[in-house]
Amino acid sequence: MTVLITPRLRLEPLNDCHVDGLYRLNSDPVVMRYITGRPETLDDTRQMVARVKGRWAEFGYSWWAFQRLDDDEVIGMGCIQHLNRDPAGPLETGWRLSQSAWGQGYASEAARHMVGWAFATLKPELICAICQPENTASSTVMQRLGMTYSGTGRWYDMDCARYDVTATQWAASPARKAYEAEA
Ligand SMILES: CC(C)(COP(=O)(O)OP(=O)(O)OC[C@H]1O[C@@H](n2cnc3c(N)ncnc32)[C@H](O)[C@@H]1OP(=O)(O)O)[C@@H](O)C(=O)NCCC(=O)NCCS
Repeated sequence: MTVLITPRLRLEPLNDCHVDGLYRLNSDPVVMRYITGRPETLDDTRQMVARVKGRWAEFGYSWWAFQRLDDDEVIGMGCIQHLNRDPAGPLETGWRLSQSAWGQGYASEAARHMVGWAFATLKPELICAICQPENTASSTVMQRLGMTYSGTGRWYDMDCARYDVTATQWAASPARKAYEAEA
């Protein structure tokens, strides 16, 4: 399973040792506002980790825990997965951070490493990301990755804006240059 190292983070495939840190993250209603709209219980987090472990075994990619190199704290999580959990669908990336880690560039840093790894390894034609239209903090991360708005749709039972980056766009993007310099 793929561990990714960025300048400030270690991205680890989710496993049982991340449950406590991920529960702290996912039980914050502010973090979950635009995701499911409700905070997770400890049991929800345990079940989510179990599901994700299954997807790593099935696909070889899924959700990573973002562990800060400085202090080993789990400050977020992010993914490469299939949009709407449909294996025939395009690859999707996503992220979330604990509030104390906002505004420091961690999401963009993790995102360019997840997407850079995915383009280099899985060789998709494009990678997408979705968010509720009012979640501008997340759509800004998408734009920093070189993604552009490609329309709205309904995914995960939510009305969402979708952003895409093609392999060609990624190759020419500042985010890829930063990723290559850091990888
Ligand atoms: C979406 C989310 C991850 C974005 O977090 P974020 O902190 O805004 O994004 P980044 O980590 O990329 O940080 C970028 C900010 O850090 C600043 N920054 C500070 N130091 C930096 C550094 N060393 N490198 C890059 N940026 C840095 C940037 O200027 C930018 O600030 P700005 O937004 O005021 O311009 C966060 O809002 C979140 O977790 N929300 C809740 C969960 C969620 O909705 N997830 C998305 C679901 S679709």
